[in-house]
Amino acid sequence: MAIVRTIADLRQRIAAWRTQGLRVGLVPTMGGLHEGHLSLVRLASSKTDRVVATLFVNPTQFAPNEDFEQYPRDEEADGKLFAGAGAHLVFAPSIEEMYPEGHVTRVVVNGISDVLEGEFRPHFLAGVATVVSKLLIQSLPDVAVFGKKDYQQLCVIRAMVRDLDIPVEIVGGETVREDGGLAMSSRNLYLDENQRAVAPALNSALNRIAEAARAGADVTAACREATDGLIAAGFTKVDYLELCNSETLERLEKLDCPARVLGAAWLGKIRLIDNIGVFP
Ligand code: PAF
Repeated sequence: MAIVRTIADLRQRIAAWRTQGLRVGLVPTMGGLHEGHLSLVRLASSKTDRVVATLFVNPTQFAPNEDFEQYPRDEEADGKLFAGAGAHLVFAPSIEEMYPEGHVTRVVVNGISDVLEGEFRPHFLAGVATVVSKLLIQSLPDVAVFGKKDYQQLCVIRAMVRDLDIPVEIVGGETVREDGGLAMSSRNLYLDENQRAVAPALNSALNRIAEAARAGADVTAACREATDGLIAAGFTKVDYLELCNSETLERLEKLDCPARVLGAAWLGKIRLIDNIGVFP
């Protein structure tokens, strides 16, 4: 499995596959790989003939006070994991390759980027939309796969691809969880032993809200109780726990359409997010 670092090399390799009539899948990542990422590679591989995985810690989706510097980087280990999962090519560009001097364009997906994560990390979703639009245009894949773990990110990417007429099928891969329910995340590496023991409470809180919504109970009260429960369990702050329309992410008071319970909460300096689907 080759690693390429320039857009020109990436395009050349993909063009060669295209002349053979092969279908191409793209799996964008920032590295720090875990089973969740590898399941996305396998999903892309089941739908296409050749899989390009990307490794790029995207600076534009981090605020200055966030963990851009500490974000796990181990290209050798990640390369082996990608190869084992069936990737054919890794695109690992430098920051200068992706954002050369004079780069001034930012892609903003209005509305759906303004709620939930948008309220707490206003730079994040525009940074994601910008880098993902670039990766899609650079590689022009048939299929691109993103994890449902970052559910709002997936919704933003779907809206962007629709609005910009980018000819690609966006596929969402299921969240992979540890025993106990903690969603796998590169940032779980930051958790100490005590925090690791508390962290699954976020998923339990989402499940309790989903149960209350299905039972027709007061969703606002259920979210408030779940917030109190997280603080009692050892979380230091809850950014949000909400029931939302699964397509538009509009907040719901009752379960009257396919929905998602989404949450973000802090364990000390570590921010965890998670979400689950819930149907009427
Ligand atoms: O989900 C991620 O790892 C990142 O947000 C993505 C989609 C690779 C863009 O940098």
